Amino acid sequence: MAGLAALRSLRAAGLSSGKRVLVTGASGGVGRFAVQLAAHAGAHVIASVGSAGRREGPAKAGAAEVLIGLANLDQLVDIVIDNVGGPQLVEAWSTLAPGGSLQSVGWTSGQPAAFPAYSTIGPAKSLTSFVNEREFAADLAILVQLVAEGALRAEIGWHGSWEDVAEATKALRGRQVNGKAVLDIDTHGRRHAEPKERAAMLRAPIHLTGFTCTYLLRLADVSAAE
Ligand SMILES: NC(=O)c1ccc[n+]([C@@H]2O[C@H](COP(=O)([O-])OP(=O)(O)OC[C@H]3O[C@@H](n4cnc5c(N)ncnc54)[C@H](OP(=O)(O)O)[C@@H]3O)[C@@H](O)[C@H]2O)c1
Repeated sequence: MAGLAALRSLRAAGLSSGKRVLVTGASGGVGRFAVQLAAHAGAHVIASVGSAGRREGPAKAGAAEVLIGLANLDQLVDIVIDNVGGPQLVEAWSTLAPGGSLQSVGWTSGQPAAFPAYSTIGPAKSLTSFVNEREFAADLAILVQLVAEGALRAEIGWHGSWEDVAEATKALRGRQVNGKAVLDIDTHGRRHAEPKERAAMLRAPIHLTGFTCTYLLRLADVSAAE
């Protein structure tokens, strides 16, 4: 889901070689994919992270510049992939060039965005809401192909059992995870459950209140559950 959000929001924004692309929350799951995909397309990628300790991932992913926040961004950008929302979205909007596109993908800050008076008046540029729509197969195939070619890395910053979901959530909320959290569903440990219960368990979506639900679930022993 993170890779799809990155790919599709960049496409919606009109990504092409040479464009200046700002990715906020660049150290996170969506951000890392967005940095890699934009750099792979030949864009000049500016990654914004929250602290010095979070710089390394986006730099390795191909960002030409890695900034802490947006205060030192001195040139306008053509595209913004915003994962943070709140005051950073407002700041990102002010850095968007005429004709540019800001894609509002996520809102990890949880803060409201207050636009200064008249900041939306001027040469046309757009702020567009984004959501991953269904029909994933074709775009997933593109991502898998890029991974197979070595052009895209799916970074896993936390890996454990889904029974440790609280630990994973704490690490994500604490901005400690470099990439995605992967939760293994191990049905071996659930053999006491009735087959019907195990099957329902595997179908059930995992919702983490107020947080991203884009977890890769490795379904171990699915056939046993079915
Ligand atoms: N629209 C869609 O279809 C779609 C699809 C997938 C995901 N999303 C959304 O996109 C967002 C990013 O998802 P993700 O999987 O990349 O999440 P993530 O891995 O948790 O990364 C989010 C990044 O946001 C930054 N961040 C966290 N709290 C922050 C705060 N209070 N202020 C400023 N920055 C903060 C962190 O970077 P630093 O630690 O460097 O600050 C973190 O790396 C989420 O809101 C998610 O729900 C939307």
